Amino acid sequence: MLTVPTDEPTRRHEARRAGAQPDRWWRTGAVYQMYLRSFADSDGDGIGDLPGALARLDHLVELGVDAVWVNPWYPSPMRDGGYDISDHRDIDPRFGTLSDAEAFIAGVHRRGLRVIVDVVPNHTSSDHRWFREALDAGPGSPERARFHFLDGRGPDGSEPPNDWSSAFGGSAWERVADGQWYLHLFDSGQPDLNWQNPEVRADFVDTLRFWLDLGVDGVRVDVAHGLAKDPTYPDNGGIAVPRDRRDLVDHPYWDRDEVHVLIREWRTLLDGYDGRMMVAEAVVSPTRLPAYLAPDQYHQSFNFDLLEAEWDAWGFGEVIVTSHASAAAVGATSTWVLSNHDVMRHATRYGLPHGTDHARWPVTGPHTALDAAVGLRRAQAAAMVTMALPGSVYLYQGDELGLPEVWDLPDDVLEDPTWRRTGGAMRGRDGCRVPIPWEETGPSLGFGPSEGWLPQPGAFAGLAASRQAVDPTSTLSLYRQALRLRRELLVDDEALTMLALGDDVLAFERGSGVMCVANMGTSAIALPDGEVLVTSAPVAGGLLPPDACAWLAPRTRSAPVVTPPV
Ligand code: GLC
Repeated sequence: MLTVPTDEPTRRHEARRAGAQPDRWWRTGAVYQMYLRSFADSDGDGIGDLPGALARLDHLVELGVDAVWVNPWYPSPMRDGGYDISDHRDIDPRFGTLSDAEAFIAGVHRRGLRVIVDVVPNHTSSDHRWFREALDAGPGSPERARFHFLDGRGPDGSEPPNDWSSAFGGSAWERVADGQWYLHLFDSGQPDLNWQNPEVRADFVDTLRFWLDLGVDGVRVDVAHGLAKDPTYPDNGGIAVPRDRRDLVDHPYWDRDEVHVLIREWRTLLDGYDGRMMVAEAVVSPTRLPAYLAPDQYHQSFNFDLLEAEWDAWGFGEVIVTSHASAAAVGATSTWVLSNHDVMRHATRYGLPHGTDHARWPVTGPHTALDAAVGLRRAQAAAMVTMALPGSVYLYQGDELGLPEVWDLPDDVLEDPTWRRTGGAMRGRDGCRVPIPWEETGPSLGFGPSEGWLPQPGAFAGLAASRQAVDPTSTLSLYRQALRLRRELLVDDEALTMLALGDDVLAFERGSGVMCVANMGTSAIALPDGEVLVTSAPVAGGLLPPDACAWLAPRTRSAPVVTPPV
């Protein structure tokens, strides 16, 4: 029987246990996304692991976040970076053991932080016991009924059952030896589970309970919008992911109303625990997102609207106002996300011209279009905007170091199935998953005792955490300062007032009177009256340069720093 060590609980956790007040930490939390296999490697196999992550946890404390979301750590053949799971209730030996997971959770709690784990209900790995049983049992069996097995079209069934495409390219159907086809909305190594099957539903509840009992504070639900499939399997024109999420309506497998029944069941389970949360990866039309945030649904959902927005004051402003209002309308807070393990890092995105197709640009170019210095400045400013907003902010590991996308990794190291399945038309997501540079020297810059699973570019040495930690002008110092001030001044209320300071200026004020001003234009702007608390670029003569952000406190405030709430 596994137990969660409870030594040295923090005051916050004691208050939680005592049930002093409902603990809704996620509403304002700053969450650090840890892509475990690229965070810290303790044993020299080139893959980040739990003991390595545990040893580096103080980085998160010094950064000033409230929680850590860990990408999948389950046994997996790693055909999709661990989102292809062969056992949902164990740890991959490359990452460690269940005891290491317990030690990690305890280490996080000891530091007063929370842990969110990634759960993947939509599919398993083709190595999962269930899938192997399904292959052995043959057509029409209960084992096949856990997945979507269909006969093919055409006289000999050699055509896929319909025209659905995989999100990673190619058909969403794979044929097995006896002639049937199975559905995989992602890689062929990720067969989709059939959520109409009660056994599938019950098993996932067991998985949730397993991790909640082990002590995790939250779960990030992968592909939360994809579980329900139209049981008539109609053709849909083969469009896996429309370019515009607003077009995601009446789709045969994304965002179908039936998913909400499932979520209600999980929410009931979580409500039986204290202070736990679920966050959805729901890639849906913005108008459909509030349904995922109703009181009997998710506690929060990723909001990808800023992640998809161009560097533009009007566009940012519109996203901020609508996201904040639509979350508030259902009693939730918004989340703010600029990067994650699935997209080009925003320090590179913002250095490319408007209208660039970021997923294709590494192949199509033109590569001379990239202005990395501008990208970094904007990335720092955008991060400050997100940290100043009401709601919760998600940071992707390496953002705090200003890491760029490594878009030119050698072909032979690419692992993302997108590269293979699109026949090289898209290089995929490896470029945002390169191991973290901790030190300026060493075979993998402090990531581990040997080279990492992906090579780090030479420029990563100059971005090493150890170097930035002692440089007050670094991206890391900026993140630390902003997150500290956020805790002190910005998380007590959910008020937001937009300020009109000019066409290219994004500005808003929080209930505490703190103002956030971002210059998204091409010339310097005069800052409004106030005491500058933190800026992403030097402010001289009250002028904020382009591609920069400043936070200001009202002059009436006697001191900008107040005692943090306990
Ligand atoms: C989610 C994950 C992504 C993964 C996919 C399939 O979108 O974020 O990394 O490839 O689901 O599980």
